[in-house]
Amino acid sequence: MPKRPLILAIDVGTTKVSALVAEVRPDGELAVLGISATPVVGMRRGLVFEVERVALAIRDAVNRSNSMAGTDLTQAAVAVNGDHLTIVPGQARMGLKTGTIREEDVRAVLTKAAQIPLDGDHEAIQTLRRGISVDGFRGVVDPVGMVAHQLEADVFVVSGASTVVRNLRRVVTMAGITPTILVPTPRASAEAVLSDDEKQLGVVHLDIGGGTTGITVYRSGHLQYLGVVPLGGESITSDLSVGLGVVATQAERLKLEYAAVGADREGTLEVRAVSGQSVKLIPVKELEDIVEARVDEWTQFVESHLQRIEWPKGPAAGVVMTGGGAMLKGLASHIESRWGWPVRLGAPFGLGGLSDLSKSPGYATVVGVAKNAMAGGVRPEPETVWDRIIKFWMHLWT
Ligand SMILES: Nc1ncnc2c1ncn2[C@@H]1O[C@H](COP(=O)(O)OP(=O)(O)OP(=O)(O)O)[C@@H](O)[C@H]1O
Ligand SMILES: [Mg+2]
Repeated sequence: MPKRPLILAIDVGTTKVSALVAEVRPDGELAVLGISATPVVGMRRGLVFEVERVALAIRDAVNRSNSMAGTDLTQAAVAVNGDHLTIVPGQARMGLKTGTIREEDVRAVLTKAAQIPLDGDHEAIQTLRRGISVDGFRGVVDPVGMVAHQLEADVFVVSGASTVVRNLRRVVTMAGITPTILVPTPRASAEAVLSDDEKQLGVVHLDIGGGTTGITVYRSGHLQYLGVVPLGGESITSDLSVGLGVVATQAERLKLEYAAVGADREGTLEVRAVSGQSVKLIPVKELEDIVEARVDEWTQFVESHLQRIEWPKGPAAGVVMTGGGAMLKGLASHIESRWGWPVRLGAPFGLGGLSDLSKSPGYATVVGVAKNAMAGGVRPEPETVWDRIIKFWMHLWT
């Protein structure tokens, strides 16, 4: 029986590690065979701070997904997150000796375009093809076989701090997994939930996690911007804990049950004080004020990123949000009224198998990592799948 092409994807988030085992079906569909999430401590704002605890959570999530799928995969594509991630444009031009464009010419010009000097402590994580021009004609989709004098390529290189990348690889390795490709978290989540039409029209994607908010902007079918704000839902929880004088677990519960933006409610809540068993009454308004102050700060941070994009008319397809933080009540309408763009919650789509389990917005990243790995091309021999992906990666992909 031929072996199946399988993918293991891992998202080491600030609050949970997700692992996904998927199979690439003969028709090209990605079928979910196993998916799980394990709560994690030891991460801050998307970065590894306590290696051993994080490694344990990774091992647990992978074991659970592998046993659900009946697999024993030990190589994984992994999401990399944090506000160190940056996107840098690159461009190159090349004269053609033969007059006809060959595949190796396209590879050569793309590789040349990706040779961008990065900040001293940064390394390239992913190179994305933005466009190819042939003798000055832009937007050529497949230039191979065309007759021309000159080939031009535009790329984006997503880079990240080498220390962060090294530590992520190390923690994954400590969990008994060999990391193969790394995928920037904001892009992974975006790719899991955005349709081709949205990317073409123009769309802002926000992945609002526990410790970070990933921002991507797509236009004319391509990624135009990627950035990360080191703020997520955990800040609201800690503000509530300090502001209301309750323990973190209770603050989290209050947030999930009562927190809302723009609700303007009255009344009081009964909560247990940090010290002792005494019960105190908290006006709902006080809780709302704390939440709204943090959301306000968060909104300004996100806006400072969006202002970097030249965008005369705004995104025609509006804003798509993923991540647990996106489920904060009233957040979508807050953004809608402040920016004047339609907002929707995104969920992973286009999957087979146990796809219902993977539809939560919190699983967008791990699904996107698997989709990225699949885009690299997989064959029905597991031992060569990753060789193929890595090889493809070296040659750049769209
Ligand atoms: N219904 C809800 N309302 C408000 N916040 C929520 C809700 N559900 C989950 N959250 C918050 O979402 C956050 C976790 O989201 P998610 O699982 O996407 O984060 P993560 O991937 O672990 O973190 P990051 O992406 O920042 O590294 C937590 O702060 C949690 O409190
Ligand atoms: Mg996340």
